[in-house]
Amino acid sequence: MITKTGIYVHIPFCESKCFYCNFVSGNYSDKIKEKYIQTLFNEIETIKDKRTIYSIFIGGGTPSVLNSRLIVNLLEKIRSNFNISKNAEITIECNPNSLNYQKLKAYKKAGINRISIGIQSLDDGVLKLIGRRHNKSRAIQAIKMAKDVGFNNINVDLLIGITKNKTIDGDVLFLKKLGVTHISAYMLILEKDTALFEKVKNGTVKLLSEDESIEQYNEYLKTLRKYGFKRYEISNFCLKGCECKHNINYWECGEYYGFGVSAHSYIDGVRYFNSNNILEYIENFNNKTYEKLTDKEKIEELLMLGLRMTKGVKLTSLNQLGYRILENKNALKMLSLNLIKTNTQRLYITYKNFGIENQIILKLI
Ligand SMILES: C[S@@+](CC[C@H](N)C(=O)[O-])C[C@H]1O[C@@H](n2cnc3c(N)ncnc32)[C@H](O)[C@@H]1O
Ligand code: SF4
Repeated sequence: MITKTGIYVHIPFCESKCFYCNFVSGNYSDKIKEKYIQTLFNEIETIKDKRTIYSIFIGGGTPSVLNSRLIVNLLEKIRSNFNISKNAEITIECNPNSLNYQKLKAYKKAGINRISIGIQSLDDGVLKLIGRRHNKSRAIQAIKMAKDVGFNNINVDLLIGITKNKTIDGDVLFLKKLGVTHISAYMLILEKDTALFEKVKNGTVKLLSEDESIEQYNEYLKTLRKYGFKRYEISNFCLKGCECKHNINYWECGEYYGFGVSAHSYIDGVRYFNSNNILEYIENFNNKTYEKLTDKEKIEELLMLGLRMTKGVKLTSLNQLGYRILENKNALKMLSLNLIKTNTQRLYITYKNFGIENQIILKLI
């Protein structure tokens, strides 16, 4: 069932905290950064594994805030410890403010072949409202620089559901013309413990209502499709052949090593994860939490993650774990209502029912 292995490296550093974000990330001193990177290298060295790695994702946080020399060293360390496939997809998450030609050239030379830039919006008012440090022109410049340096696989992250946007069509077309090949369009989650949550609570910020957000999302769906960005996962859209291999491996419940604070790994049916606290991680990266998944839990994961993708989940993977779709009453009912479908290989949610994917998945579990 499991075919490919990926590596995720978490870089928890950002220049400042965006108002909406509760990822494990923040602004730390150079001393902490140094200690963290050293710990990361030590953690990577502990794994002696001969299996081939098909994708590497350096995420965060904002890895591009680091000196590019550290990213180059990090990739050298990974290469010296693992067998990396010649065609591996290697992604780095960046934000527009911290990118420049020198860093991008160093990334390219080190074998990074996919750039993911958090632009969030092309509206300066929105960027300010959500506490981003960059503006529209910096976002455009960052994409142009990545293209100039020769990156042909460029993702941008967008946030949906903040304020009204009358320029969705123009924005998507513009991004395509700039050379963007992949768009992650995330519906804003108003997380507790964020500055935005407080601002909404005390009335200083008013976000779109749920209905307005859904309407905006549908407008994005229509427009992305119009310009050739095919939806292949709930929030992910790309031009032909530009799907993110690393994320597809997660959604297919493939194996991955995770390094760094809060990073999760899933190897040989065992999931384990590091502390969410950077100081605890630095103090003892070996202090991991282990969870061996039962077959029932594996089935739940396959359904919950696999059905996020438009192509759905492999029937053979479900069968191997003893889940028979035709023996599940709820599944039969949903098949008859065309909410889900099967082909010879997969079970998938029909396109127009993606808005209620959570209810469908819960009924299948
Ligand atoms: C971990 S960030 C990495 C990118 C980079 N640090 C940046 O922000 O430019 C990945 C993406 O998660 C998304 N994200 C963060 N917080 C979110 C929230 N509360 N709701 C929806 N998406 C969120 C943003 O679109 C962000 O670009
Ligand atoms: S959205 Fe990105 S840049 Fe902003 S705080 Fe979160 S990880 Fe950092």
